[in-house]
Amino acid sequence: MLRIVLTVCVLFWNQLAAQDAVDKVIELCEQNDCLGPAVIIEEKNYVEMEFKVRQKVQTEVDAVDIESAVAIGLEKLFSYARCGNVAGTIVPVSAPWGVFGYLKNGEIQQRFLVFLTIVPEVTNPPQPTDPTVETVTVPAVWYYGRIFDKKVDEQQIEERVSQLLKDLEHDNQPFNSTFFGIAYLSTHGLMEMGFMKTGE
Ligand SMILES: *[C@@H]1O[C@H](CO)[C@@H](O)[C@H](O)[C@H]1NC(C)=O
Repeated sequence: MLRIVLTVCVLFWNQLAAQDAVDKVIELCEQNDCLGPAVIIEEKNYVEMEFKVRQKVQTEVDAVDIESAVAIGLEKLFSYARCGNVAGTIVPVSAPWGVFGYLKNGEIQQRFLVFLTIVPEVTNPPQPTDPTVETVTVPAVWYYGRIFDKKVDEQQIEERVSQLLKDLEHDNQPFNSTFFGIAYLSTHGLMEMGFMKTGE
């Protein structure tokens, strides 16, 4: 299965936009299971990415910004993975982890959904004991996005979000502008950011 996914990644190898960052994501897929995008297609100065079905544990967080939301949220999610569940067991988790943020008139709202990936080998994740935490199975989806491989501060992350929003609007792409997603793949700032594609 992993082989097939990688073949698809490699097919698009030559058409990639942010070559360096995208290469790093593919490289990471080779070392681990490919929980990054299964397909990456160049589209102007951003990419279209397909994400396969995956399991996550997630929690809603009220916070002043993305960074603090991730910090608050991940603490709860790691505690779920470390026996904070009805089975009292360790639940193996992996990258990517990340956050969904909501936009209103282009402004990032102070409400976020923070998530952590549960490895595919876990077939039936136990329920969380914390009622504000939930496990979900996310269907396959397509995103318009960008991939970066440099650690940046909050302000630069927000600028990246609004720049992508502007570029997608400018190109009249069919996407849902009410929320954005950010997924981190490494502790060195390798991240995907995007808006969900709509229609079809
Ligand atoms: C956009 O996403 C929001 C939040 O998930 C949802 O309520 C809304 O129906 C979506 N809009 C479109 C056009 O898909």
